[in-house]
Amino acid sequence: MTATNEIVRVCDVVKDFRPGFGLRKKRVLHGISFGVMPGEIFGFVGPNGAGKTTTLKVLMGLIRATSGSASILGHDVNETAFRKEIGFLPENAYFYDYLTGRELLDFYARLSGVASNERAARINTLLDWVGLQHAADARIRTYSKGMAQRVGIAQALVHDPSVVFLDEPMSGLDPLGRKEIRDLILRLRAEGKTVFMNTHILSDVEMVCDRVAIIVAGKIMYQGRTEEFLNDGEHMCDIVVSGVSPETAARFEEQYDAELRGVGERVEMRVRDKNVEAILEAVLGSRGRVLAVTPERVSLESIFMDAVRGEGK
Ligand SMILES: Nc1ncnc2c1ncn2[C@@H]1O[C@H](COP(=O)(O)OP(=O)(O)OP(=O)(O)O)[C@@H](O)[C@H]1O
Ligand SMILES: [Mg+2]
Repeated sequence: MTATNEIVRVCDVVKDFRPGFGLRKKRVLHGISFGVMPGEIFGFVGPNGAGKTTTLKVLMGLIRATSGSASILGHDVNETAFRKEIGFLPENAYFYDYLTGRELLDFYARLSGVASNERAARINTLLDWVGLQHAADARIRTYSKGMAQRVGIAQALVHDPSVVFLDEPMSGLDPLGRKEIRDLILRLRAEGKTVFMNTHILSDVEMVCDRVAIIVAGKIMYQGRTEEFLNDGEHMCDIVVSGVSPETAARFEEQYDAELRGVGERVEMRVRDKNVEAILEAVLGSRGRVLAVTPERVSLESIFMDAVRGEGK
């Protein structure tokens, strides 16, 4: 147990696999630690083979960590009683595709002990919720990938868990399908649920995750709040103007610490955020034209790329 109210706690988890009898063990998780706070959408992000699914399997109690500990809602993940509190969508989930969506949900509702007099209503609510009411009685075989993923999410919610784990919920979906899943995930948060998702689709992470951890080759390279890397601290801004004399440009350099990158018909400069307004006013005041103002944005992609390259060194 930890002193904080973390919903998921992973502490120094190491996982070794033995590829085969007598073969050398392969370390896949190198002592990773992170926590997930109540009610947040947590993105566990990393390139293929980084160890995301392995971590999720440890959390789901499907495999045991070689060392270290992991808990959910304060319970060690190898206990079983708390599992009714969690929902799980596996990676590339395979569902019996001769069943209809409604039959599949009924199957999982029975498995997870939903009372028989509540099942039909619960399944109807879920079908509405994931927008599959129209296809409820069609076989899953006839579903598109997006529909199959949505029935998978409904399956993970059938017993109304408070924490939901999703392994690559948007993979293989077109932009529309991804948006549908993103919206579902945001609705889960609106209902007060905590969501943990594995993914490597960075734009989705930026759009839905409150916090992220980046894992590369079995090590956590970065963790933090999404908004921190999107707009933290003092940023720079690239400005391109025309109709400005070299003297005026020199004054920008002196007065506003502008870094001049090209002075000619067009003046290109990089300036601090806080000086942008004054410079633009000066340009317009001297009858110059503003051609472009491009704020530098520290993107998840740059952090991700730095993390991947850092591990490669
Ligand atoms: N049962 C196993 N035996 C041996 N090696 C394994 C086993 N399961 C996973 N691995 C290895 O562990 C590493 C991490 O795999 P994992 O599936 O956790 O990655 P991932 O981050 O989920 O990748 P992806 O984005 O492709 O889903 C890979 O190198 C994989 O080959
Ligand atoms: Mg995986």
